[in-house]
Amino acid sequence: MGSFWFLKWVLFVGLLGSLVEGIGVNWGTMASHKLPPKTVVQMLKDNGIQKVKLFDADQNTMTALAGSGLEVMVAIPNDQLSAMNVYDRAKEWVKRNVTRYNFNGGVNIKYVAVGNEPFLKSYNGSFMNTTFPALQNIQNALNEAGVGDSVKATVPLNADVYGSPDNNNYPSFGRFRSDISDLMTQIVQFMNKNNAPFTVNIYPFLSLYGNDDFPFNYAFFDGATPIVDSGTGIQYTNVFDANFDTLVSSLKAAGYGNMNILIGEVGWPTDGDKNANVGNAIRFYNGLLPRLAGNVGTPLRPGHIEVYLFSLLDEDAKSIAPGNFERHWGIFGFDGKPKFPMDLSGQNQNKFLVGAQNVQYLAPKWCVFNPNAKDLSKLADNIDYACTFSDCTALGYGSSCNNLDANGNASYAFNMYYQVQNQDDYACNFQGLAMVTTQNASQGTCNFITEIPSSSTSTGPTLMCLVLLVVSTFLLL
Ligand SMILES: *[C@@H]1O[C@H](CO)[C@@H](O)[C@H](O)[C@H]1NC(C)=O
Ligand SMILES: *[C@@H]1O[C@H](CO)[C@@H](O)[C@H](O)[C@H]1NC(C)=O
Ligand SMILES: *[C@@H]1O[C@H](CO)[C@@H](O)[C@H](O)[C@H]1NC(C)=O
Ligand SMILES: *[C@@H]1O[C@H](CO)[C@@H](O)[C@H](O)[C@H]1NC(C)=O
Ligand SMILES: *[C@@H]1O[C@H](CO)[C@@H](O)[C@H](O)[C@H]1NC(C)=O
Repeated sequence: MGSFWFLKWVLFVGLLGSLVEGIGVNWGTMASHKLPPKTVVQMLKDNGIQKVKLFDADQNTMTALAGSGLEVMVAIPNDQLSAMNVYDRAKEWVKRNVTRYNFNGGVNIKYVAVGNEPFLKSYNGSFMNTTFPALQNIQNALNEAGVGDSVKATVPLNADVYGSPDNNNYPSFGRFRSDISDLMTQIVQFMNKNNAPFTVNIYPFLSLYGNDDFPFNYAFFDGATPIVDSGTGIQYTNVFDANFDTLVSSLKAAGYGNMNILIGEVGWPTDGDKNANVGNAIRFYNGLLPRLAGNVGTPLRPGHIEVYLFSLLDEDAKSIAPGNFERHWGIFGFDGKPKFPMDLSGQNQNKFLVGAQNVQYLAPKWCVFNPNAKDLSKLADNIDYACTFSDCTALGYGSSCNNLDANGNASYAFNMYYQVQNQDDYACNFQGLAMVTTQNASQGTCNFITEIPSSSTSTGPTLMCLVLLVVSTFLLL
């Protein structure tokens, strides 16, 4: 009996082993229409994903995660960092968003992300003074609350906090960026003292984006011409390894060469740029996942790396300041449908992940350009309007809907607006230029979506109800 049990246990762990250890996902919620959190949690479980990284500590999300056993990273957004510089506020945050869920059947919180890429160059130093004090206060509050051994505070950082000099552009010459070098050293020292990991986001896609000189194959894990590090003689065949080892070298130079490193975000978008497509995403993940499952590591850090894929779902309300691809990072679409074959066990079997179950959609109705419209002088303005308040990023160069004709463009824009507005009849007028149809308007690679109902947790409908309430009260008076 005893040995049989042991055998079963070994088989069980063996089957799950390669997947369980490695993979987490980022679950962002910047979508106009969100899947119900319970549906998302079930989808994670159906795929054996056991770790999830959030961008806040939203109560509905946390409630859905309670009892799931999933390991969770909760987060403090950048705009709350300065508040966390007051220790009592940090204590309160920990109480309300961490220890409150610390009970049998609660949420298995492992990390608190303090800020999100706060030292990005494009933030012009806005969070330079507040990040480290917030990190200290949160970890100290966790420690004081008695959960500091199991919950660690970390700062997810963009890979632009370190680099190699132009004249020795190899991983072994990696150093923290000179303007934040002292700050980074203090942060690393503090996290090291508390056994917290260094968290970094690494994006081979961004190495390609906007840099046509970048060696294309080097963004993937197969087929690149090796680059030899003149400091170590190590051959690098992909930018992921090179980037990670630049961080290892930077940490070593700061005196913390053995610090644990966690990858907070890594992935490949599928639309919104000429290099953002399903084919490249498959190539990227088919290179990445077997390496993670096999605990290959990098030349300077062989072995297991804890990784969170970016991202779980497409999010149509994200800022596109970084680029049109920003709304298309999901390994699942906005509706929880898997986009392409992906094997999280790292064996590259040609199979799809399990999609979200029992997803409801709005009616099979689309808003399209009305071919009988007479006055086309306002067409451009109306398309602009539609695209300002909905997601038209698939229309751009190299994207899935870039081959539409002028009428198709208008239809696409009108439909996106109509769907975001929950198929409200008033949202398909556009000064007489549009009409509703029940005929699927999708064309070739260009999918004309029908939205899902707004999950009751999103603020959209609540706000709408409030407005209606105010308006109807006004009418009554
Ligand atoms: C922390 O919890 C409070 C109370 O539930 C909530 O208002 C706040 O939004 C949470 N913080 C984050 C970052 O989600
Ligand atoms: C940073 O500075 C640039 C140039 O001065 C400006 O365009 C941008 O809006 C600033 N960004 C932030 C987040 O302050
Ligand atoms: C950060 O602190 C320095 C020194 O006190 C100050 O000069 C700088 O303006 C501060 N930066 C911000 C964004 O508050
Ligand atoms: C419309 O057609 C597209 C492409 O064939 C398909 O993927 C989608 O499921 C269809 N939508 C509906 C609501 O039938
Ligand atoms: C459709 O819209 C895209 C994106 O705005 C644009 O690049 C393309 O030229 C348009 N096509 C036509 C035929 O107007």
